[in-house]
Formats: sequence, structure tokens, C-alpha cells
Amino acid sequence: MIGALYMLNLAILVSGRGSNMEAILKNIRKGYIKAEAKVVISNREARALSIAKEYGVDTILVDDKGKKGVDWEYDKKILEVLERYGINNTNGLICLAGYMRILSPEFVRIYKNRIMNIHPSLLPAFAGLHAQKQALEYGVKVTGCTVHFVDENLDSGPIIIQRSVEVKDDDTIEMLSNRILAEEHIAYSEAIKLFAEGRLDVRGRRVFIL
Ligand code: GRF
Repeated sequence: MIGALYMLNLAILVSGRGSNMEAILKNIRKGYIKAEAKVVISNREARALSIAKEYGVDTILVDDKGKKGVDWEYDKKILEVLERYGINNTNGLICLAGYMRILSPEFVRIYKNRIMNIHPSLLPAFAGLHAQKQALEYGVKVTGCTVHFVDENLDSGPIIIQRSVEVKDDDTIEMLSNRILAEEHIAYSEAIKLFAEGRLDVRGRRVFIL
């Protein structure tokens, strides 16, 4: 079994708008998620950072200067911040919430099954960028969102929670994205709550909810 036996320390990694992060912070404030948001880290100036400050959470910018690509040297800087905030692999959880970088395998190994991500499709369908557009163009009738643990490959780790959304004939990418986003906000908090309560049991690719 994994998860916290005592108060979970949370770090949220962002790159942009921060609506998932805000939903998480709201649910911590309400007491729905029993965890402490220790720090919000971004790789670039982002709206999410100002929202986090409004919630009284420390924010750290680890500027990647627009340099993309998997980079262990960059990730070591994130690691330093996490260590400073006491987010370790016994009482910590790292939530990627619109974080637009791919973590290096070295980093993922340190926090095995302690990094979560949210993706706007029903994985394994439509991994990668623009998942909502991919779903619309493919012509699926149902799509949704997935909260999963992060492993060494893109959008491929063990699935924790999925919520489905119907695709309508007259959907635009924006309309569909907005309906998926509403489900993301519910799913992400639920997954973190379960983790914080020690109720997620990972066996191979499968995650059982206890
Ligand atoms: C969400 O659609 C999430 O699924 C994806 O990036 C987007 C982030 O949105 N990974 P926000 O920054 O949480 O508003």
C-alpha cells in the first residue's frame, strides 16, 4: 500500500492557467483533501503562480528559459526545491497540473508512484498534446480525463481515476475542453484525497481503491 500515514506534503508543478491547481487548493482549504500544499513550482511566469499566492502558498519559479526537452540537470533544481520543502518519497506527493515539461527518468524513479498527472482524454487514447482536438478529429463519441501516476514514458503510468464526457455533434474544441476541464477538477482532487488517506494500492499497472 502506498500513501500517507501522516499529513501529506504536496508540491504542485504548473506552467500556465492553473485551474486544476486552484481546484486542488480549494479542496485542501475546505478540508476535503487532507494534505498541506507546501509549494507551487513553475518553469515559467504563469498565471498559476499569482493564484497560488492568493491562497497563501509559497511559489518558486525555476525558469527553464523556454528550453524544452528532458533534462535531468534542470530537474535537479526542482529536486532541490522539493527537498527544501520536505517533499520526499515517504510523505510527499507531486502533482503535475498543466506542467508542460517531461520529467527525466532519474526524477521519476526517485518519486516512484508519488507523482500524479492529469490528462484531458481517456488514456491510452490521445496521449500527448491537444488531446481534446485529437478526440474531436478522430470522431470518438466519448472522451474525458485521466488522473494517473507518472512513469518513465509519456502519459503512460498506472491509471487512478477516469471521468467520461460525451462528445456532441456541434462541439468545438473549446466547448469540449471546457466540459472535460470541469471533470478534471473533480477527478484530480478525488485522486489526491484517496492518496492522502492511504487508499491507493498500486499493483503493476493496476491501481486499486481501498
Ligand atoms: C488541463 O487540461 C490538463 O489536463 C492538461 O493541461 C491543462 C491544464 O489546465 N494537462 P490548468 O492549467 O489546470 O487550467
